[in-house]
Amino acid sequence: MPGVFDALDLTANALEVARQACLAAGGYLDLTSSNPTAQGLLFPPALLREATEAFWTTRRYTPDPRGNPTARAAVVTYYAARTPPLALVPDDLFLTASTSEAYALLFALLADPGDNLLAPNVTYPLFEYLAALRELELRPYRLDEAQGWQMDEASLLAAADERTRGVLIVSPHNPTGMVVQRPNAALTQLGLPVLCDEVFAPFAYGVPTVPPLATLHPELPVFTLNGISKLFALPDLKLGWIALNAAARVYGPRLEILNDTFLGANSLTQHLLPTLFTHGQAFVAAMVARVRANLDLALAQLADHPRLVVRPPDGGYYLFPAVRACADEEHLALALLKGGVLAHPGYFYGEVPGAHLMLSALTAPSPFAEGIARLATILA
Ligand SMILES: Cc1ncc(COP(=O)(O)O)c(C=O)c1O
Repeated sequence: MPGVFDALDLTANALEVARQACLAAGGYLDLTSSNPTAQGLLFPPALLREATEAFWTTRRYTPDPRGNPTARAAVVTYYAARTPPLALVPDDLFLTASTSEAYALLFALLADPGDNLLAPNVTYPLFEYLAALRELELRPYRLDEAQGWQMDEASLLAAADERTRGVLIVSPHNPTGMVVQRPNAALTQLGLPVLCDEVFAPFAYGVPTVPPLATLHPELPVFTLNGISKLFALPDLKLGWIALNAAARVYGPRLEILNDTFLGANSLTQHLLPTLFTHGQAFVAAMVARVRANLDLALAQLADHPRLVVRPPDGGYYLFPAVRACADEEHLALALLKGGVLAHPGYFYGEVPGAHLMLSALTAPSPFAEGIARLATILA
């Protein structure tokens, strides 16, 4: 069959087959969820209702290829309040339907089919599909587990060639929790555009704050990606953005045409954005506190576990512990599911030496505590 994904194996993997059977037989404790709306984290409905009301009576379709100027100004204010602050002007912002769409636009902006991008290993699984859409190769660079999953500079340099068009960074990283905290000499040496995904930025854990990568590398063109899916727990309202630093402004006119091709960011959510920033902070603080409490609990409970090596993440809402004496991650995940706990095997996130599990601390506190306790018992 012609077309993209024609060679994709669409059969469900063994864990998915077992998960469906387990669901039909009464369910399991899900320690994998990245969906806040499924975990009782609902942005205050009254705030949304009130902010929506004005939209219906004043709405006019006045599309802007960079996005609603008032919404962009709100994003500029957000970056000015980060630590350290990132100075932007509204024209540095491009509003999109999602972070995922932002990636797709940037892949088209920066690379031709057959070119490549450097991507972390451990990795965010969506990269594979986004790269395939544009027929790009992803060349992995290593995240060094022994160094808290920091980017390995030698492997970054070794992965680049004459067709490399950019470097993908996720900070805080999904799922290792690594935060890039200082300038990286290999990035400076490569001099390539950097695409930095900061959707987990509010969730600092082991570090006091998440520095915007663009503040660490002002000499490089840095495209900062973010959106409301994680920041405000609103994945269904569909809004993301790309922020260009001064060195990336040269790409603005062509990115404008790309964004204008779809105009994917819907007007209602753009209208809501300033309200989310000004009135959503108490909700964000409560969500961050929940994740922190879950991480505290899991780290305390699993610290002395004979088979798990659990390190406090710098940020984000996942744990990615190593599992000792495990030859087969899928077998391990199936055994956990048999005991009523769903965790993702490490191979879902790339080719990492050793065995790992991915656990999400976004999970509602009670099933999280029960799931961690049960996981500890089964593994022991
Ligand atoms: C690292 C990372 N970036 C982006 C996204 C998705 O963001 P959006 O909903 O804005 O496409 C996710 C979702 O899990 C993610 O883990």
